[in-house]
Amino acid sequence: MEFTKELTQKCKGARSVVVLTGAGISAESGVPTFRGEEGLWRKYRAEELATPYAFERDPKLVWEWYDWRRQLISKCLPNPGHYAIANLEALYKDFLLITQNVDGLHRKAGSKKLREIHGNIWRVRCTKEGRVEENLEVPLKTIPPACKCGAILRPHIVWFGESLDMEDIQTSYEAIGKCDLFFTIGTSVVVQPAASFAMMAKSMGAYVVEINKDPTPVSEQVDVSLLGKAGEILPELEKELSST
Ligand code: OAD
Repeated sequence: MEFTKELTQKCKGARSVVVLTGAGISAESGVPTFRGEEGLWRKYRAEELATPYAFERDPKLVWEWYDWRRQLISKCLPNPGHYAIANLEALYKDFLLITQNVDGLHRKAGSKKLREIHGNIWRVRCTKEGRVEENLEVPLKTIPPACKCGAILRPHIVWFGESLDMEDIQTSYEAIGKCDLFFTIGTSVVVQPAASFAMMAKSMGAYVVEINKDPTPVSEQVDVSLLGKAGEILPELEKELSST
């Protein structure tokens, strides 16, 4: 892909960078997206299962969905898009990756300055004590899994209708407020609050670059919209930026 001179200059001259990713960055690793053709599990949409109400009503059903996703994700590896973002981190002193993904693949690819604002599918939380711990069991032996205290465990994930972690939100807003370059990658830009991050960055003066397979609600408003696969575009961009 040919990048415009303006884009490469903005990227090379940037001092503070924020990258927001969604399910599309992991699509080439084999993780299904939420709103794509393969976005359904059995007959359910994410919005019907990723809620505290769904869990209260039927914890077994919700855990079966997460167990299915954990099995799937356990076989997936980071792709060149994840690695390119991890490498971009080294190019900028001031950098933050905000991901809506819970698959842990950015961390696996080496990203360190990272906020997983929707949580992580490999962590569980006691519904009684609130204690969070890692759980890598695949498949789960018991569904729903139980805490040592006897209470049910839940995925340590921020569900629809729940608030994001305050520290994640603060760190994200601070970084968005001061960045001069913002990337929105592989997200359909419909789930709040992340859906407003790109336009927030733009209104505060950042140059906003979108990378997505398809146009999104913000494609017309960003500074550059690069249509294509993140796993192909990002390594090319990283190569361009790493060259002097
Ligand atoms: P979506 O599934 O809504 O959107 C994925 C986006 O990635 C779409 O715009 C696709 O066009 C794009 N895409 C697919 N493959 C791509 C590729 N190879 N390269 C670039 N783009 C590609 O996922 P999110 O926007 O992440 O929340 O969804 C946001 C949240 O909704 C998720 O974090 C999840 C879900 O419900 C929770 O589970 C709490």
